[in-house]
Amino acid sequence: MTRHAILVARHIFPEVSQRLAQHFEVEANNAPIEWGRDELIRRLQGKVGAFISSTEPIDATLLAACPDLRVLSSMSVGYNNVDVAACTARGVVFTNAPDVLTETTADFGFALMMATARRIAESEHFLRAGKWQRWAYDMFVGADVHGATLGILGMGRIGQAIARRGALGFGMPVIYHNRSRLAPELEAPLGARWVAKDELLRQADHLVIVVPYSASSHHAIGAAELALMKSSATLTNIARGGVVDDAALARALADRRIAAAGLDVFEGEPEVHPALLQVPNVVLTPHIASATIATRMKMAMLATDNLIAVLQGRPPLTPVNPQVLKPA
Ligand code: DGY
Repeated sequence: MTRHAILVARHIFPEVSQRLAQHFEVEANNAPIEWGRDELIRRLQGKVGAFISSTEPIDATLLAACPDLRVLSSMSVGYNNVDVAACTARGVVFTNAPDVLTETTADFGFALMMATARRIAESEHFLRAGKWQRWAYDMFVGADVHGATLGILGMGRIGQAIARRGALGFGMPVIYHNRSRLAPELEAPLGARWVAKDELLRQADHLVIVVPYSASSHHAIGAAELALMKSSATLTNIARGGVVDDAALARALADRRIAAAGLDVFEGEPEVHPALLQVPNVVLTPHIASATIATRMKMAMLATDNLIAVLQGRPPLTPVNPQVLKPA
């Protein structure tokens, strides 16, 4: 019996290809670079499935050029790089990797917020540069995290996990804005209160952005929104580049319109807006919120399981477009 041919489009743990090779003919990207669209299309010829991440651009043109594809399995939870409607229209199952990264990503979001509020990166650079001469009462004074109002934009799984850390660990009153309100039994243990977006911006001492990127969340935080925030407030973005207008944020930081920002994601990453590199009051990290070995392995293995399941005629664990699945 001929074995299905599949593509592992990103350099990933060897365990992924080893597991997939037990069932399929595997072509893998063994170099730590992304394949561009043309290369992806070329390598997807004759492939029925592919293991991808948040960096492969999957759109209607690519799908039309790869008619053998039946399943695309991403190891990321976010999928703004994938045209899911186009997948559905072509009968291609698309799966992502939710849940397994929630706590790790929330840990990082909280750490980035703390580093931002307490000026950890800025003061470390100062020390490394040999500028530390003496203790001073006002040297790198920042903002308290404990007891401060935590504002969360986007209250999905990761937003709720950040709210738990803030409310239960740091005594923070939690306010949030989301398209839909949480059920009262989810709000109550966190003391979380739904507020309108403007109120969130006005009241938050520390604003954490966890809303998925889509056309409707593009530049959800721009100059007008930043102007509503307290001048002492911090902003942390662990969602996706493009949710925040990076140029407007750089201006607000330079003008001290807000106190500081922590950013793990950027518009057009891995490029970073040059103005952000010039301001001292921003902590910049290269999209690593889910990056622990254990969690990245869980994400990769969930994507592997999804790929195997679909190609063996079983339902995947975490389909995004389950309507494409054929009844058994
Ligand atoms: C995700 O899973 O969406 C993370 O941002 C990594 O891409």
